[in-house]
Amino acid sequence: MKKVMLVFGTRPEAIKMAPLVKEFQKHPDKFETIVCVTGQHRQMLDQVLEIFDIKPDYDLNIMKQGQDLYDVTARVLTGMRDVLDEAKPDVVLVHGDTTTSTGAALAAFYKQIPVGHVEAGLRTHNIYSPWPEEMNRQITGRIAEYNFAPTPLSRENLMKENVSEAKIIVTGNTVIDALYWVVDKMKKDENLDKELNRILKEAGYDVSRLANGKKLVLITGHRRENFGDGFINMCRAIKALTEKYPDVDFVYPMHLNPNVRKPIHEVFGENLEGLGNMFFIEPLEYLSFVYLMEKSNIVLTDSGGIQEEAPGLGKPVLVMRDTTERPEALSAGTVKLVGTDYDKIVNEVSALLDDKAHYDAMSKAVNPYGDGLACGRIVETLTK
Ligand code: UD1
Ligand code: UDP
Repeated sequence: MKKVMLVFGTRPEAIKMAPLVKEFQKHPDKFETIVCVTGQHRQMLDQVLEIFDIKPDYDLNIMKQGQDLYDVTARVLTGMRDVLDEAKPDVVLVHGDTTTSTGAALAAFYKQIPVGHVEAGLRTHNIYSPWPEEMNRQITGRIAEYNFAPTPLSRENLMKENVSEAKIIVTGNTVIDALYWVVDKMKKDENLDKELNRILKEAGYDVSRLANGKKLVLITGHRRENFGDGFINMCRAIKALTEKYPDVDFVYPMHLNPNVRKPIHEVFGENLEGLGNMFFIEPLEYLSFVYLMEKSNIVLTDSGGIQEEAPGLGKPVLVMRDTTERPEALSAGTVKLVGTDYDKIVNEVSALLDDKAHYDAMSKAVNPYGDGLACGRIVETLTK
């Protein structure tokens, strides 16, 4: 019996690790599955735990309002020391590029416990973009004994850094497993869309507005390197678009980070209600978010995970960043980088709204990130 500990702390890690927790739990004869959350995010993590019905064995509960990178790193490292002493796992699995992930990998390394890195090998090769994620993932990659690379390209990135081929397993991205779980849930439960319509209406957006072919632009943003001027440009561009296209709805589920909300208020004012076709709403739980993404026409985001999900749903994605560690969908033509440049954001959204041929070319469904079976491959590797 192997003791496997999965550690995560933010919304995207939770979404991408949840199907893996479930997969390990299917094999109680082979694995003792231990879930440790750091609580780097509190409310946004809990939303995911609830949807996937996961009850953590350990919860470091580290989140503080306005925490900085030192706070998170230090609390994860010391918190994990005690958890690892008590639980004594045989292997620790971390995900991606957050500070939870790197802190937990380092904590396991200090106890000489092997680390498995889920979503390994993504690179921009620019340590300040995304910041601090590019360095986080490189550090975790140095520590990892098992590198679960989502695509052949991420495997190549690792091999260029002299990671031994034997330590890399191409699995697909577990986000596609999570996405298929949602799609499957919707297919099986006929009443779910009614329930999701209700949740969305309560959150502040009534999807019945989309009847009669009204278009929807779905927006998210949270990257640290965009704080300040970048976010102000993004918000000003979004405001200009809402005025240019009064018949199109713009929905922005806002990240809880105060640095994300401040520029929104600066550009749109203190009161974010009653803004006509612009809807600022609280972060959505995963099912409602995927449901809304499915209903959207264009996704405007700086998110990593959404760049992987939206192409699978056939939605064009404009990425408000200068770099991406996910070039696969860029090559497929469904994702485009627009940075945080005001004109570029306005022009690219306008082109997708005005030019049907351009829209059709970008909206074909492609799925370079996985086949929904990534978690099975990870479990199989650790069974051997
Ligand atoms: C973190 C990750 C980032 C990831 C993102 C996903 C790091 C350094 N950053 O960035 O890689 O892409 O999550 O969303 O690991 N807050 C709440 N409640 C929540 C979540 C956040 O109030 O549920 C607020 C708190 O004031 C918190 C702040 O947001 O201090 C920032 O959270 P933090 O995890 O430090 O940074 P993110 O920008 O969320
Ligand atoms: N997401 C969600 N609710 C929201 C916005 C996003 O459930 O209101 C999901 C989204 O589907 C994706 C993940 O959160 O799976 C992305 O998280 P985020 O953008 O915060 O982080 P990143 O992926 O950039 O690290």
